[in-house]
Amino acid sequence: MKPGDFPAEVIEKLRSARSVAVLTGAGISAESGVPTFREAQTGLWARFNPEELATPAAFRRNPQLVWEWYAWRRQLVAQAVPNAGHRALTEFEQRIPEFTLITQNVDGLHQRAGCRRVIELHGNIRRTKCFEENVVVETWDETGEVPPRCPRCGGRLRPDVVWFEETLPPEALEKAIQAAQTCDLFLSIGTSTVVHPAASLPYEALDRGGMLIEVNPEITPLTGNARHSFHGPAGVVLPALLRAAWP
Ligand code: APR
Repeated sequence: MKPGDFPAEVIEKLRSARSVAVLTGAGISAESGVPTFREAQTGLWARFNPEELATPAAFRRNPQLVWEWYAWRRQLVAQAVPNAGHRALTEFEQRIPEFTLITQNVDGLHQRAGCRRVIELHGNIRRTKCFEENVVVETWDETGEVPPRCPRCGGRLRPDVVWFEETLPPEALEKAIQAAQTCDLFLSIGTSTVVHPAASLPYEALDRGGMLIEVNPEITPLTGNARHSFHGPAGVVLPALLRAAWP
């Protein structure tokens, strides 16, 4: 993409915005080789539905299966590195007075790209918590039992991610809504915008007069509401947008 591919009002808005909120989804990490939730149902894991692997009921039924699936995904994430899209967003953060990055991803790649103000709506796969007490656990004894046990209460350990049927961390959601409601510009990047409540954040911005821009190779339910939609990979569109706004 070339700087001339972006409408002047987009460039103006980026340069003059006081407050920008960004929502990212699995698409921003696609170019880092992190499979999306549904793509991760491949190989050995193809015969399971997400509902069989990512719900509290699934964990109660077969904690070993769920732990092992997340261990496999954790190892994929550990091998991945941030891409040009993550890096461009970090540069946006450095140029915009108030910048809030809200992500549905659990891979931690925005932080690894140097982004400082990140709200994780769906948790982080590298963190572990106790299934019984719902508190983060940093260390535990490896006894060979899968999943391992909480050193405090003996409950089973689980990944600190939000499963289907679970509510989002209230503080993270509150901050995300506030950022969406107060921004001049909202960017929706690499998300299908079908999973709520995250998918309603762009509408919070729209309702209060924020400009909505989408970056996604595909059309989504949000596309018709966006002032501008750039249909390309985030790793191409975002660096080009950065160069166009701050040549
Ligand atoms: N750049 C930008 N967008 C991309 C790219 C790319 N290179 N590649 C794919 N996409 C887009 C797809 O077109 C799709 O719209 O990323 C989106 C990914 O959609 P989903 O897989 O539904 O991911 P997401 O929106 O993050 O899902 C939300 O649902 O599966 C649950 O909890 C999980 O956090 C996840 C939530």
